Amino acid sequence: MRPLIAHIDLDALRQNYRLACDCAPQSRSVAVVKADGYGHGALACARALEVHAPAFAVASLEEALVLRHGGIEAPIVLLEGIFSADELAAVDAYRLWMAVHSRWQLDALLAFTPDAPIPVWLKVDSGMHRLGFTPDEADRTWAMLREAPQAGELHLMSHLATADARHSEHYARQLACVHDLARRLGAPLSLANSPATLAHPDAHAAFNRPGVMLYGSDPLEKGNAVSASLAPVMTLCSAVIALRDIDPDEVVGYGGRFRTDRPTRIAVVAAGYGDGYDRHAADGTPVLVNGQRAPLAGKVSMDMLTVDVTDLDGVDIGSEVVLWGRATNGAVLSVDEVARHCDTISYTLLTGVLPRVPRRYHDSLRQPAPAP
Ligand SMILES: Cc1ncc(COP(=O)(O)O)c(C=O)c1O
Repeated sequence: MRPLIAHIDLDALRQNYRLACDCAPQSRSVAVVKADGYGHGALACARALEVHAPAFAVASLEEALVLRHGGIEAPIVLLEGIFSADELAAVDAYRLWMAVHSRWQLDALLAFTPDAPIPVWLKVDSGMHRLGFTPDEADRTWAMLREAPQAGELHLMSHLATADARHSEHYARQLACVHDLARRLGAPLSLANSPATLAHPDAHAAFNRPGVMLYGSDPLEKGNAVSASLAPVMTLCSAVIALRDIDPDEVVGYGGRFRTDRPTRIAVVAAGYGDGYDRHAADGTPVLVNGQRAPLAGKVSMDMLTVDVTDLDGVDIGSEVVLWGRATNGAVLSVDEVARHCDTISYTLLTGVLPRVPRRYHDSLRQPAPAP
């Protein structure tokens, strides 16, 4: 069997979730599990958090139904609401909560007769300029929803564009806009994503919406003590499948990008862009071989990548290679560090792990019963 496996540590997920809650003891933390739990498996993650999280958040009805059909009973928020009016029947039948970000969604809701009022998160555009009513429109829309028998409990929501930045005037403007509106409407609020949960107590409100931090990635431009204690949930782990000893002034891999400047030992690893490992990874991108750091050498291929292990002892066929996460010896390589070498963010690496990579779940609370 090909050795590449994405190990998912559900204990670490719970630990990170607890950190999110500890950051904001006055708020309720909705666990964001969209995009298949940021690549970790939404249902497995939701099951692991089920007794802790007051609600889950996803991007679509389809994602919500994966959770419902998997037995998740907690409220599920559709962060973008419905994509067409005919989804309202399922929103009602499956007791989902929905964002309403546009006039057409509001009209569809007001023309619908649900069995039970549908909890609504009215989305206001406070400066992200992606989804949401303008603050002026929000007043009138809030009033309409309050009168509407179709709408259940109401919250105001908005999304922050620059909460990860150390200093941001834009953040301050968004916060002032949302607080102003929430005060005017007397509306309970949902605002904080992971960076705001970690670094901006002034954005904490009735419901926070931490996502990437639950999976152990630090979203802050400049990390803090809490973000430094996040634990990696995914360990993308493979093995050395071949070793090569190469003379100086030879090239390795497609395009000959990496050129040896000394006698060099190259380890070939079973992982490539066909698994979701980023093809933009630069020479020097760290990997852990037997728990020791070594640099990527040469362009990533579809099924393989190459690492310079000249400076490491004890590397052999079958040696463990961790592309991000925690090695058997306890060494950690953060997905954030790998992302920087790929000129991207952890979100794309985590959500980009492709289906051909088997996920293996580890959960100390769900060990198989010992044999009698
Ligand atoms: C509306 C909304 N809320 C919360 C989140 C979670 O963000 P993060 O993963 O940065 O915590 C996202 C993610 O993109 C989002 O779109």
